Amino acid sequence: MSASLEKTINNKLLSIFNTLGYDSKFAVVKTSDRPDLSDFQCNGALALAKSEHKNPREIASQIAEELKKDADFETISVDGPGFINLKINNSLIGKIIDSTSIDERLGCEKVESPKKIVLDFGGPNVAKALHVGHLRSAVIGESIRRIEEFVGNKTISDVHFGDWGTPMGMILAEIIRKDGNLSKAHNYNIEEISAFYKQANIRCKEDEGAKETARQITAKLQDGNSEYRKAWQHLRDVSVAAVKKNYDELDAHFDLWLGESDAHETCGEIIKIAQQKGISEVDDGATIIRLEESNKPKPPVILVKSDGGYAYQVTDIATIKMRVDDLKADEIIYVVDKRQSLHFEQVFEVAEKLGIAPNVKLQHIGFGTVNGADGKPFKTRDGGVMNLEDLIKLSKDKVRESMPEPDDKYDAAYIEKLTTQIAMAAIKFQDLKNNIASGYIFELEDFAKFDGKTGPYIQYAIARINSILRKGNNIKEGNVLITNNEERDLALKIMQLNNIVMRAHESKEPSIISDYAYTLAQTFSTFYNASSIMNAESPEISASRLRLARLVRDVLTKLLYLLGIEAPEVMLKKA
Ligand code: ARG
Repeated sequence: MSASLEKTINNKLLSIFNTLGYDSKFAVVKTSDRPDLSDFQCNGALALAKSEHKNPREIASQIAEELKKDADFETISVDGPGFINLKINNSLIGKIIDSTSIDERLGCEKVESPKKIVLDFGGPNVAKALHVGHLRSAVIGESIRRIEEFVGNKTISDVHFGDWGTPMGMILAEIIRKDGNLSKAHNYNIEEISAFYKQANIRCKEDEGAKETARQITAKLQDGNSEYRKAWQHLRDVSVAAVKKNYDELDAHFDLWLGESDAHETCGEIIKIAQQKGISEVDDGATIIRLEESNKPKPPVILVKSDGGYAYQVTDIATIKMRVDDLKADEIIYVVDKRQSLHFEQVFEVAEKLGIAPNVKLQHIGFGTVNGADGKPFKTRDGGVMNLEDLIKLSKDKVRESMPEPDDKYDAAYIEKLTTQIAMAAIKFQDLKNNIASGYIFELEDFAKFDGKTGPYIQYAIARINSILRKGNNIKEGNVLITNNEERDLALKIMQLNNIVMRAHESKEPSIISDYAYTLAQTFSTFYNASSIMNAESPEISASRLRLARLVRDVLTKLLYLLGIEAPEVMLKKA
């Protein structure tokens, strides 16, 4: 039996609608707005009334009469102006849960026609440590990657390293200024390179001449100057190694470590195509494309700067072409700060004009900023940019405060590992419980509590079920019998999983998953408080409840996985 209950009911409706000669597009149910009355409702009669020139209640009653012949429904009623309310039979619920409990996909379907999706997230830059702004891209991007893979799409994640802009020339210029040349460049480590970059930033802000030198060096670097390329390669390698460590800690996976520089050759092709199509023009020495301004003013896109260098936008345009030609992408999704919305609108519009991505869906998922208590982007105490590494350390320190001392059972290494798992869950869930587009205030007080809408609360719910299962290991789980309302509510909640995952996939919104995980954990809690597993009314009911509990554990674990969060076997905290 298909575990997608809604689909099963829709199919039943479909055949009734066909028999009665009604338009089958209205043969759909949705989860009931009135759970006290029904599990599902069908509002099709109201939609049909006009074209059928009939009273909606009359249509509804006709359909209801047919539904009443089906033993899978407990009650069918027509309410209000013509809503059909359906309550499904407990034995059907039991059967569906039984089949879900042995399904490794937990009753979740796959998309009908799998797509190849290139996911562009991360977006780190050479010589810059990851900061709090990079957190969301990595956390949201990784969650979307896992959701898409789970529903059956093929994903290719690319970190898209920022390694080709003017900052490259700025760093090289700064090294030359100090050492006279680049002969020592290959010795510098990430801290030193970052320091050069900071210094260069200050200098270029004050000194137009220094900025000009940096631009010229960047243009020569892009043009292939071998000395610059050699030094640049080292800067890039060192930076990649540093951020790889950060992304490993975040458990964000990248299939490709390409960067803006990898699009260099293709940038040349883009310029050619634009010229051939006659859509580019030379303006003040720069090659640009002007865009439609019908709705709002959109600045032109600069393909080649007046100094001959390629800028951010053209590398993104060229990268689209590569992803389409080489990777055969059906979709490209960018998980990038929403302050870059205009950039992506421009880039997508040019891609369209150039015809380099026919039938490829290009989508920018813009996220809001991580803010401090003042509602402004999160800063360190002294007002500087908060490094991601420091943020993680801060979070771990906070979690460590409530950890127990090591003992014979759990040694120091175990406690430390658990601290990390809890801290990462707290950070990620705090990020993913919000609608992506809105910013949020990073909160260190309650973010790791075992109660409330937190990642550790879900981890704790899982650990609690693990402990129930350990205690109940002399009982064998068995067929699900619905004997009370709490069991029924829990079973119906579990049955929503497929819908939830599909909705999260369709809208690229992990908060749909986090919301559901939270309510499922709560529903389990209510169930467990009302229904004893070990001392149930009969051995069959014990076995049934054990199955429900185990299934909730598996579903919650899967949900956390989709959010990029680990589920420890046990959770500990100070007594
Ligand atoms: N490196 C860029 C920045 O720091 C973000 C890159 C986003 N991805 C992209 N394909 N443009 O602003």
